[in-house]
Amino acid sequence: MEERKILYSAIQPTNNLTIGNYIGPIKNWISLQNDYNCFFAVANMHAITVRQVPAELRQKTLEVIALYIACGVDPEKCVMYVQSHVPAHAELCWVLNTFTYVGEMERMTQFKDKSLRHAENINMGLMDYPVLMAADILLYQTDVVPVGLDQRQHVEIARDIAQRFNNAFSPTFKVPEALYAKIGAKINDLQDPAKKMSKSAENPNGSIFLSDDRDTVIRKFKRAVTDSGSEIKYDPETKAGISNLLSIYSAFTGKTVAEAEADFAGKGYGDFKLAVGETVADKLFPIQKEQARLLADKAYLEGVLRSGAERAARAANKTLSKVYKKIGFYQL
Ligand code: TRP
Repeated sequence: MEERKILYSAIQPTNNLTIGNYIGPIKNWISLQNDYNCFFAVANMHAITVRQVPAELRQKTLEVIALYIACGVDPEKCVMYVQSHVPAHAELCWVLNTFTYVGEMERMTQFKDKSLRHAENINMGLMDYPVLMAADILLYQTDVVPVGLDQRQHVEIARDIAQRFNNAFSPTFKVPEALYAKIGAKINDLQDPAKKMSKSAENPNGSIFLSDDRDTVIRKFKRAVTDSGSEIKYDPETKAGISNLLSIYSAFTGKTVAEAEADFAGKGYGDFKLAVGETVADKLFPIQKEQARLLADKAYLEGVLRSGAERAARAANKTLSKVYKKIGFYQL
């Protein structure tokens, strides 16, 4: 039997996840889990690079795991774990720090953005974020990393660091490839359709959170910014708002954009927005119910995390021990 390729991804347990996180990463994972050996982490160590409320961080960690499972990520097929439960991440990060230049970290787009947004707390961890992410990926001899465009630069730097280390010693890390989601998967803000829907947007009406109840979902869609004209047609250049709603509708129904347009031929914007809202609310409800059921079963979730951490640590420690040997750490 052919060995399956290894896939690695993670989500930070910060803010509330949006339908963008569902349509993008999580929904993709559900199909990818059948073709790859998957590792899915909750990146709580990345999360603390900006200030978090400890009790919320703790709770969100479980919520994210429950959500993965509620969406259909199968803990039997995949290794699901919490980053801080596998010490090898911090350990490899330290070694990789010595193969990463301060200048290249200072030039990272996300670091520059976050430095502006969190000017009061530009901490070392924020700057080191990409190196920790490289450690995440490289520990598992990852072949592919499914990411959004905003993480592209981070995967590039992980590749650079891997190659640098491999060249300095001998092949140690697999050099990972980024795997971009298919087009049509990009979900924009409902209030500002030129921007990506974000879990930390200033205006909460622009984002549909996976935790939003039916009334909230429908209200937000009703208020979504549309464009002049009255035709429901996909044209991101001139009709950013309507095109975004069509993308959401097609992602949630599995229909093509052309089929989505046909569903609303001759209808007005009001009917269209209501229909998209109802479609999304109908889809979220069973996920929310299952997530709540799982959260009530803490023993089960902790079992998943315990076994995930053990399996992850086994794989990670193999790589870490090779690294320690190559750099000359005396091992007992
Ligand atoms: N930085 C990623 C994000 O914010 C999360 C993440 C952490 C990640 N480690 C990773 C993604 C490793 C892919 C691979 O979305």
